[in-house]
Amino acid sequence: IAQNLGSKMTSILRSPQALQLTLALIKPDAVAHPLILEAVHQQILSNKFLIVRMRELLWRKEDCQKFYQEHEGRFFYQRLVEFMASGPIRAYILARKDAIQFWRTLMGPTRVFQARHVAPDSIRGSFGLTDTRNTTHGSDSVVSASREIAAFFPDFSEQRWYEEEEPQLRCGLVCYSPEGGIHYAPRTGGLGPA
Ligand code: RTP
Ligand code: MG
Repeated sequence: IAQNLGSKMTSILRSPQALQLTLALIKPDAVAHPLILEAVHQQILSNKFLIVRMRELLWRKEDCQKFYQEHEGRFFYQRLVEFMASGPIRAYILARKDAIQFWRTLMGPTRVFQARHVAPDSIRGSFGLTDTRNTTHGSDSVVSASREIAAFFPDFSEQRWYEEEEPQLRCGLVCYSPEGGIHYAPRTGGLGPA
């Protein structure tokens, strides 16, 4: 038992911290501008996020209402819902150590005036237009990340990803698919992304 425990401890100590998943959205104000869209995408890559899934879509008003349910009744709710349904958005599942907090820091404060003042190099500080049209969204907790990932990527299984891909990705076994714009763990047999 002592020997088993010893080897288990060694592997725990050796294995780096698990990757965390978050949902990131690029909002219609940024998707409408190819250079801004590309700049945000580059920020994701240069900050060592792994892009697990990516898709572009147009949201119906009802989808926005459901997604932002927690803000129903707030003065900005109606404005926000209309805006998010006003044009295409891009959704990402991102993986990284401390992904949720790291992405929120990279986005900067919600309010653009504050973002420009306290975090001018953040995404919102650089590209945000108004408090509503503030370029990006990020999940705010592990629970909301799971809920939001499921809402945008119903076919994605977090459990399967943690079992099959995360252990490899965490150790640096990472492939990038330029066509799909996503990172994935190499599979034996040399098959492409799952
Ligand atoms: P997000 O959910 O978009 O990642 O941003 P957040 O957590 O920083 O902000 P949250 O309080 O969840 O608000 C969601 C979105 O509502 C719009 N909003 N406008 N004062 C305003 O006019 C106001 N406050 C919030 C923003 O688009 C914000 O991202
Ligand atoms: Mg929020």
